[in-house]
Amino acid sequence: MNILILGANSDLAGCLATQFAKQGSCTLVLASRDMELLEKKAADLQIRTGVVCQARYFDALDYPSHSDFYQGLDPRPDGVIVAFGCLGNQKEAEQDFQKASHIFNTNFMGAVSILEIIAADFERRRQGFIIGISSVAGIRGRKSNYHYGASKAALTVFLSGLRNRLDPAGVSVLTVFPGFIHTKMTDGLGLPGLLTTRPEIVARRIHDAFRKKQDIVYTPGWWKWIMRVISLIPERVFKKLNL
Ligand SMILES: NC(=O)c1ccc[n+]([C@@H]2O[C@H](COP(=O)([O-])OP(=O)(O)OC[C@H]3O[C@@H](n4cnc5c(N)ncnc54)[C@H](OP(=O)(O)O)[C@@H]3O)[C@@H](O)[C@H]2O)c1
Repeated sequence: MNILILGANSDLAGCLATQFAKQGSCTLVLASRDMELLEKKAADLQIRTGVVCQARYFDALDYPSHSDFYQGLDPRPDGVIVAFGCLGNQKEAEQDFQKASHIFNTNFMGAVSILEIIAADFERRRQGFIIGISSVAGIRGRKSNYHYGASKAALTVFLSGLRNRLDPAGVSVLTVFPGFIHTKMTDGLGLPGLLTTRPEIVARRIHDAFRKKQDIVYTPGWWKWIMRVISLIPERVFKKLNL
């Protein structure tokens, strides 16, 4: 099985790569922008696990390059993990449309651009799996990160539509809803300790959900119940909360 990981320099993606490599019988293509870091990660992973691991340049924002990027993969992947993401700065995004669109263009448009190319290939080959990393932030908009949240909400709906389209072709789509994770994305944000998890734990849960052929996974699992409760709060109450 050949697995393509997009945004592979992400801390969560690194743990996912290890998780898949530890199961053996796969080869990995790590794709991201920072090639120096990526090549180190690929070499390290190959030494640690014995799994063949290539590094490839990929920029989610460079939409015109996506087709050539994908056609250049040999062999074509059997599965893809979309892990790239940009949290951005909510206050700056409120005041500067360029900053707001950067968040949306990375998290949503970047995924749409590359995943439509991959979906067409998987659909034609009648095989493959897609794992998309969304976020619980996309379930209800909060003042502290609604640009990021809106981009993840769009990604969630897009992945749901892909799942519905690709199921008859035997292609699976797993949508992942992580809560807070200790990664470079959240460094210095002062996240609540009790609600924040290590990326290794999230990666294990995602791999488990993939093996069980789940469509959706909250990780850790209790986020599902937290988000159910949050979804039930009436809007007239929710709008007054300091979230
Ligand atoms: N951390 C959390 O609390 C949390 C919670 C819920 C969901 N998530 C989601 O989980 C995923 C992984 O997050 P993380 O916390 O592991 O993030 P991270 O460590 O900050 O890594 C994000 C990675 O995204 C890549 N990236 C950003 N823009 C890109 C672009 N235009 N093209 C290609 N790659 C790009 C970067 O790669 P380069 O270094 O190569 O530029 C970066 O290493 C993201 O989708 C994130 O939104 C995170």
